[in-house]
Amino acid sequence: MTSHPNPSSKVSLIELAERKARGEKLVMVTAYDYPGARLADAAGVDIILVGDSAADNVLGYDSTVPVTVDELLVLVRAVARGTERALVVADMPFGSFQVSDETAVANAVRFIKEAGADAVKIEGAGPSLARAQALVGAGIPVMGHVGLTPQSATMLGGFKAQGRTAAKAQRLHGDARALEAAGCFAVVLEAVPAAVAARVTEALHVPTIGIGAGPACDGQVLVWHDLLGLNDRKPARFVKRYADLGTEIQGALEAYAADVRSGAFPAEEHTYAIPEDELSLFEAATEEREQAPQTDG
Ligand code: KIV
Repeated sequence: MTSHPNPSSKVSLIELAERKARGEKLVMVTAYDYPGARLADAAGVDIILVGDSAADNVLGYDSTVPVTVDELLVLVRAVARGTERALVVADMPFGSFQVSDETAVANAVRFIKEAGADAVKIEGAGPSLARAQALVGAGIPVMGHVGLTPQSATMLGGFKAQGRTAAKAQRLHGDARALEAAGCFAVVLEAVPAAVAARVTEALHVPTIGIGAGPACDGQVLVWHDLLGLNDRKPARFVKRYADLGTEIQGALEAYAADVRSGAFPAEEHTYAIPEDELSLFEAATEEREQAPQTDG
């Protein structure tokens, strides 16, 4: 079901801001492949983020830090191919934008030009503000991300909620405003107290997209594997599971394995037939060939 006013047209940046102004919630989800993108798009999701969370959810790394631009490019391309309406945002992985404005722009251009993303996301404020400005200056739409930023989890003292003292909440509020001033079209707030996220949301003209940031944000994002129950990690407090596909898939694979081992699969309806007369000819010819003496070469 889509609540989008024009289900066939691409979601635009202006529309996102207009929808914030009208108080309409925005829906964002991560996706990492073509079938996932098609399903999310058909469900009427507004923004598909090809998150660097692909690192642990799809590629088996133990954090988001090791994933490379080249690895994410393949996934972004697949998602862009599967998406007609939703805005496709490519997450810039650790190391792809921290070094300089030039490398940030060069890597972001690859996501837009080679992979077909509509926008990129970068984590953090501070030095990321100059990067956001450089990217926007190069004509690349940028989504900001503050609060818990997994690429710098070590610096933040681990995977825990951010902005839980007055001073830290004030810094977060300032960072979000600075990202807006740098030209970001939206800002993700991750693992931020709901009351702080509400104040930040009020202060910004561009939409906030929350993950663990309470209901006042202009939109919400969940990670595909968390939402659908596709990983066996204990989910974070802010995750709501809408399905248990991991268990369903496991059950289906076990049933398939049992059918193959018992001979129940493939059944008659899964096989192709050959006309009787063709089969007789084939068998006669095969027998003749098998009885003929073998010659070398
Ligand atoms: O990589 C990701 O999935 C993200 C979301 C959690 C916002 O950055």
